[in-house]
Amino acid sequence: MVKRVWEILEKEAFEKADLVELLGLEGEDAQELFDKALEVKTKYVGRKVWFRGLIEYSNYCTKDCFYCGIRKGNQRYQRYELSEEEVIEAALFAYRNRFGSIVIQSGERNNPRFVDTIEYLLKEISRLTNRELHVTLSLGEQSEETYLRWKEAGAHRYLLRIEVSNPELYKKIHPSDDLHAWEKRIDGLKLLRKTGYMVGTGVMIGLPFQTLSDLADDLLFFRDFDVDMIGMGPYIEHEDTPLFQYRDQLLPLTERLELSLKMVAIIRIMMKDINIAATTAMQTIDPRGRERALLAGANVMMPNLTPPKYKENYLLYKDKPGIADDAVQTLQSMEANIRAAGDEIGYGEWGDPRHFKKA
Ligand code: 5AD
Repeated sequence: MVKRVWEILEKEAFEKADLVELLGLEGEDAQELFDKALEVKTKYVGRKVWFRGLIEYSNYCTKDCFYCGIRKGNQRYQRYELSEEEVIEAALFAYRNRFGSIVIQSGERNNPRFVDTIEYLLKEISRLTNRELHVTLSLGEQSEETYLRWKEAGAHRYLLRIEVSNPELYKKIHPSDDLHAWEKRIDGLKLLRKTGYMVGTGVMIGLPFQTLSDLADDLLFFRDFDVDMIGMGPYIEHEDTPLFQYRDQLLPLTERLELSLKMVAIIRIMMKDINIAATTAMQTIDPRGRERALLAGANVMMPNLTPPKYKENYLLYKDKPGIADDAVQTLQSMEANIRAAGDEIGYGEWGDPRHFKKA
């Protein structure tokens, strides 16, 4: 068996069957995969970890995704929107702490006031940080005009997870209507590319009904779309969502984490110079989750800079860690993860994916 793993890892390009085999590795064989990914990371992107300060701007959402805790239909959470001052203060915290960039994330909304406010915030952040702080947006599907306006106002990168690349599976985890169409999500990614953003996407791993073949297709999708950044992590069930009814069919959480780490390692080997996030969902399952993701090829972390009083209302999944922490505590725990992995923090640099510069 060990010889077989080595043989796959030596290949120039993986075929789908190789991917399925790699995703099924366990124990020492899986470790061989992680070691290879770390070798590729060290060679192509180095051992610096880029910080992207995450600002969870608002949990209002027009969508009703079956997996997500802040879906429109969940009455449990108090809905909030940060004030402009709160967003700017969080951005300035990132700037003062010499982060390369921030991520503004929110439930999906398209109304004109929302679009205007984001545009205003982008301009203000750009002005107050001498254009030095880069901004990534993670605000869901928008019109081409909106993407353009935000780009012109100072946004550089955009994260839009495809969630699952299989359209049939997409239908099973979303309501069947125009607002939740897989095709529209793909169109969104294409528009973002056209508009000139550095484009990031990602998937959830360990969803009900999802197979290793689906995950292999997700990896091929990332490669074929030639993305610049990836953020993906384990699916974690949330009791106030429709998918919770399938909890008995899920892999144990630890296996979902292992699978996520293998996804990170494989995509690092496949797309050597992209940016890959060590996501919070991994840390939720294992206190060493983020550290292990760094050792499997990830090179980005997203310290949560949302003011603590709002954090408990932005629970996309259960047991999200660091809910009571302020930004300083969050940074401390991440610095510990990074040191434990033997990496260093890339302060004062944007940390653009080399992949994008090449394009
Ligand atoms: N478990 C894990 N990730 C989730 N997301 C939403 N709900 C869950 C969940 N229950 C992810 C989605 C979304 C991102 C912001 O959070 O992939 O794109």
